[in-house]
Amino acid sequence: MNKIKTLLAVMMVSTMVFSLTVSGSTDSDVNSGTQTTEAHIASEENLTETSTDSEPAAAHSDILVAYFSATGTTKGVAEKIASITGGELYEILAAEPYTEDDLNYNDSSTRATKEQNDKNVRPEIGSEDITLEGYTTIYLGFPIWWGEEPRILDTFVEKYSFEGITVIPFCTSGGSGIGRSGSNMEALAESGTWLDGERFSGSVSEEDLKSWIDGLK
Ligand SMILES: Cc1cc2nc3c(=O)[nH]c(=O)nc-3n(C[C@H](O)[C@H](O)[C@H](O)COP(=O)(O)O)c2cc1C
Repeated sequence: MNKIKTLLAVMMVSTMVFSLTVSGSTDSDVNSGTQTTEAHIASEENLTETSTDSEPAAAHSDILVAYFSATGTTKGVAEKIASITGGELYEILAAEPYTEDDLNYNDSSTRATKEQNDKNVRPEIGSEDITLEGYTTIYLGFPIWWGEEPRILDTFVEKYSFEGITVIPFCTSGGSGIGRSGSNMEALAESGTWLDGERFSGSVSEEDLKSWIDGLK
């Protein structure tokens, strides 16, 4: 009888240890992902706020690389800039993603072209809100659409305050320069210190990006 009691006790203790191990590892996985790799997403602030005093607040870079990329070219350049600067990445996603048909610039009736023809269009952003507090520099990337920034960039710059932040626009294109994109966005943002932007091809080297970044200082 005693042996059976001992066996039952051992099984109960093993079950408790397993449960504690599983719940413990889940929590730390969530927190470590937030603290080391991702931009300061507004909803994730709550994770930091609810952490105990013994846990240090999440440290994050003061550089943000925010970008919109419909077909991945600007995304590649943004990732290189983040890798060079140690900045955090934030992708501006359209709430209604752009389809291949939406992006067909050979047809003037397609979505992207119609949006570019109307300066008042503000496509909704689908990515989580971000807290810009704590960032001092933002590299802001986008493709050139009909010579300018896509209208969703206008949504982004009107949505946030860039007070105390240096904003550095960059773009990719089939060949067109950055044109008036930077000054358009600066006027709409009404805050921040805006530097002249730069156009890159999708295949720009890290070396070329690094010398551009070094030249900004
Ligand atoms: C609607 C639309 C308009 C475009 N207009 C231009 C343009 O005026 N000049 C240019 O050089 N490239 C233009 N492009 C090409 C894109 O700027 C280029 O492919 C860019 O690198 C795409 O970046 P992404 O992959 O990050 O979206 C246009 C592309 C689209 C979809």
